Amino acid sequence: MSFTLAKPITSPQKGVHKNLEKTVLRHFNSQNQKPIAEHNRQMFTEAYQWWQGRKEPKVILDSGCGTGESSRYLAGLYPDHCVIGLDQSAKRLGHNDNIELPDNCLLLRCECTDFWRLAEQTQWSFDHHTLFYPNPYPKPQHLQRRWHGGAAFPSLLAISQKIELRTNWKIYAKEFYAALLIVNQHVERAVLHEYRPEQIVTAFERKYWQSGHSLWKVILPIPISFLKPAAANNTNKTNKG
Ligand SMILES: C[S@@+](CC[C@H](N)C(=O)[O-])C[C@H]1O[C@@H](n2cnc3c(N)ncnc32)[C@H](O)[C@@H]1O
Repeated sequence: MSFTLAKPITSPQKGVHKNLEKTVLRHFNSQNQKPIAEHNRQMFTEAYQWWQGRKEPKVILDSGCGTGESSRYLAGLYPDHCVIGLDQSAKRLGHNDNIELPDNCLLLRCECTDFWRLAEQTQWSFDHHTLFYPNPYPKPQHLQRRWHGGAAFPSLLAISQKIELRTNWKIYAKEFYAALLIVNQHVERAVLHEYRPEQIVTAFERKYWQSGHSLWKVILPIPISFLKPAAANNTNKTNKG
């Protein structure tokens, strides 16, 4: 089958954004004022009620799941977990492979950051949170659109102690890792590395791998504790990775 090669990501930004630390700390030290959309509240309630009716206590959240391939894969791999895949694109979620989902898998059209904030407010925590190939937003002025540069980053970190981010843009991985270091006193517990997929689990992973891109992972494998007020003490560590 022929396919069009994906172009490598290009950006005038050549390393971790100079405003990363300032941006992350601002979000940790202020209230997120953005109103939560009613549609997202409804989707959140649907997810929460679905989970309450399930027998599996553990939940994997798959944010920005696109066509849901990774959510379906995780649901098969972990039959003792529920998997909730979120994406804002009805078109991607409408992929034919989603006509019949595994019983332990739910896909919802929902904006992720509102969902994370509602989960934090409800104290719903997830056993695992996967963030596979988020939109990179490579323009430097779009730092705040990246997951770690957004106002919902504190909520993202509050709702799961195990996070896995995958990307084909090394700078995105380095920044996500650096953002974890900015708020995390146990620096050594997050890892960033290049990987070769043994099993392709998403459409974008497949496209990038077949196009010869290098692929990157950031994993937060064990509990962390946050240093909200003292986070500024970690300033000298933010460019590692
Ligand atoms: C590059 S695609 C990756 C999709 C899938 N994870 C994969 O690897 O094939 C990024 C996905 O994130 C979704 N997305 C971006 N921002 C979002 C947001 N704020 N809330 C929900 N979905 C979002 C997009 O609709 C898109 O499907």
